[in-house]
Formats: sequence, structure tokens, C-alpha cells
Amino acid sequence: MGEIENQEQPEEMGAFFDLRAIGYDDHIKDVVYTDEEFEQFYQAISQPIAPTEQPLKILDLGCGTGLELAPLLRRVPHAQITGMDVSVNMLKLLEEKYPAQQRQITLKAASYLDESLGSQEYDYIISAMSLHHLLPDTKQKLYQKIYLALKPGGQYIEGDTVTRKDAENEFLAEYEGQIKQMPPAANGYYHIDIPFSIDTQKELLLGAGFKQFKLIWEKDYAAVWNAAVYVATT
Ligand SMILES: C[S@@+](CC[C@H](N)C(=O)[O-])C[C@H]1O[C@@H](n2cnc3c(N)ncnc32)[C@H](O)[C@@H]1O
Repeated sequence: MGEIENQEQPEEMGAFFDLRAIGYDDHIKDVVYTDEEFEQFYQAISQPIAPTEQPLKILDLGCGTGLELAPLLRRVPHAQITGMDVSVNMLKLLEEKYPAQQRQITLKAASYLDESLGSQEYDYIISAMSLHHLLPDTKQKLYQKIYLALKPGGQYIEGDTVTRKDAENEFLAEYEGQIKQMPPAANGYYHIDIPFSIDTQKELLLGAGFKQFKLIWEKDYAAVWNAAVYVATT
């Protein structure tokens, strides 16, 4: 495997995570992050949200098994959370993990690319480790939808895989090479990693209408496979 190579045979997004739902949390805890990074990353996702007893409305895009929800619920115990994900198996595990919060968590088995996110609905929208499979145009259109779905003054908090500026084009070229050989994905799109640099993330978010961008946490700025958490304010 070279430094930036993706998996050999791309799989469709929902099917990819349905197959790996069991064991997903352990993979993130044991393979992707050290214990310290795991704590820091998932806590950073809710760090911009001031602790409150208010029932803030929060949308989680690509919520998976809900790793980001435990620290979030500690800060905002009465949050009304909508979790959206294309993998039914990941959502099932989330449901099992948070039985006491059944009334405050609504799960939608849907793609955030197709589903309406509404208008001025949410105080916060969050997304962890989910959007690094999108091409720049698709991502920016999604950011515009997110911007419109936030209440005035609302914030979008994203934690995701990022890369160095000089590696972006290699990931894109690798994606193009892989996608050329694949039939159109019946269920939307393929699981192929296309991380961008933090600078590109900032450009895409500001280009979608957000007024401010702030980097909150970064794992290793010099690494090709890096991770970061940043917040964009309407
Ligand atoms: C790496 S997991 C992250 C899950 C969780 N947020 C976390 O940090 O552990 C990525 C999740 O995004 C979901 N996903 C990918 N594309 C999606 C889309 N277009 N709409 C909704 N969910 C999507 C996948 O099914 C998967 O559960």
C-alpha cells in the first residue's frame, strides 16, 4: 500500500458500513485513534456547544453508531437529536446504545445528499468522520443545505479525516482512477476516501455562506492521513 492508496475494490457506501457495523466502534478506538486522540476528537465535536439544560435541536449527519453523542449528551442532556445515516445496521447499534434517550433521538435512514434538511430548523448541525467521500462540488452543495438548515447564529461542527494541501490532488486522481472502472453506484455512491486540506475545507464552507471558520482540534498537521475538528458559524 502506498501512502494514499484507497481500498482496492470500492464498495457502495451503505453496504460498506452495513457490513462493518459490528466491530466499528472497536476499529475507531483501536485502529484509527489512540485512546487520547479518541477522547479528544469526540469531545471536540461538542466543545463549541455551551452546556445547557435547554432542548437544543441538533442534527447529526452520518451519525453511525453515535460515538459523538455520548459527550454531546453530557453537555446538552435534553438535546433533541436527529441522526441521519444510510446504514441501517449502524443506526440499529446506535439505538441499542442509547435506550434512555429514545424519546430525544430520532433516527432517519436516509442520505444527507438526497434528503431535505429543512430551513432554519437546527441550533447545531454536527458531522463526524462522514463527509470525506464527497467531491468538492457535492460537498459545497451539502454545506449550502446545512447553512440554510441552521437557525440564524447556528453553528456547523465537523470532525473528519483531512490531508495536507500537497496530497489533495493525489487523492482526487486516485479517486478518478478507481471510479472510472466502476458501474454507477445503484445506491448513491462509493466508499472512496477523498480527504481535503483544512484550507480547502475552510474555502468550501465560507463559499457556502458561512461567515466564520475556526479550527478547534487537529491530530497531526504534517500527516497525509490527518483528522481535524472545525466549526463554521452562520
Ligand atoms: C466512519 S462512519 C462515522 C460514524 C460516526 N459519525 C462516528 O464518528 O463514529 C461514517 C458514517 O457516515 C454514513 N454516511 C456516509 N454517507 C452518507 C450519506 N450520504 N448520508 C447519510 N449517511 C452517510 C455511513 O453510513 C457511516 O455510518
